[in-house]
Amino acid sequence: MGISIEGLGYALPSHVLTNFDLEKMVDTSDDWITTRTGIKERRIAKKESLVELAYRASLDALNMACVNPEDVEVIVLATLTPELGFPASACLLQTNLGCRKAYAFDISAACSGFLYGLEIAGSLLLAGRAKRVLLVGAEKLSQIVNWEDRSTCVLFGDGAGAVLLSSEGNGEILASRMYSDGNHWEILFAERCGYINMKGKELFKLAVRSMAEVCEEVLSIAGLSVSDINLVIPHQANIRIMEALAERLGIGMEKVYSNIHKYGNTSAASIPIALCEAYNEGRLKRGDLVLLTAMGGGLTWGATLLRF
Ligand code: UT7
Repeated sequence: MGISIEGLGYALPSHVLTNFDLEKMVDTSDDWITTRTGIKERRIAKKESLVELAYRASLDALNMACVNPEDVEVIVLATLTPELGFPASACLLQTNLGCRKAYAFDISAACSGFLYGLEIAGSLLLAGRAKRVLLVGAEKLSQIVNWEDRSTCVLFGDGAGAVLLSSEGNGEILASRMYSDGNHWEILFAERCGYINMKGKELFKLAVRSMAEVCEEVLSIAGLSVSDINLVIPHQANIRIMEALAERLGIGMEKVYSNIHKYGNTSAASIPIALCEAYNEGRLKRGDLVLLTAMGGGLTWGATLLRF
């Protein structure tokens, strides 16, 4: 039995915040942000709610998969910026979509949220407990960014990505491995109703090491080498992290998908947005082997190897 991505969709807020806009807000420069991170601009949800972004992304995924909302059995929404304290944003999304027969819940695993969600959704599909699962990563990080802190406010953006997963297509998850280490929680966190705090330098080193190691582990579980992989889609945190990862894995950047210049770090939304864009651009084709990897607050990290 497979686990296929039958539909993909993403949604972004209309407001574009460029590095030049940020120059007017904090003591920074386009040159610093571009060379240290690869980010040129990001989207900020001024009018859009988190659930609205998730809804637009999900609708596109359902339409591409030709799946009726009533046929979705489970909705998993990964976010660290839910719409309300409770209920889960997934329940609000469920009612907007009209997925009357689904049960819906949020998961919190920061930037690894989409991969953790894929692990849960994939397990439900493999166990025969569901045939169609909607998995969404959606964030409104602009709400928890301190816009006076130049060390973090230049990094993050808002957006949503969604996939409709089915047990009936030709795709499969060949291998996956997830990790958490709460010992390092203080490297990246936000207090309840507080701002993002980050020890960037430490996180940078841990991100490169942990993603490289888990990618190698997943390739070894699948009995494949990195040369078998068509595309690596890492969480979009920093272009320099992606370059260091590519070097550690022994691949060129042409095999690594990045859209960070347009959107910055959108946490749980970054991988599904990138997956969808890679597909739309023809960088990802049916049958391709794609390696997804992420690392973020928790700490949480992991990698998933898919046949698309
Ligand atoms: O999503 C979860 C995963 N996230 C990550 O993995 C993020 C990992 N970390 C990073 O991407 C990088 O560490 C940053 C982009 C956050 C920072 O880059 P860096 O090369 O590690 O810079 P730094 O923090 O060491 O700062 C270098 C200098 C400092 O000045 P001094 O002390 O050398 O005088 C900072 O104060 O750059 C200064 N600085 C800035 N200057 C202009 C920090 N932020 C800015 C800024 N504009 N926005």
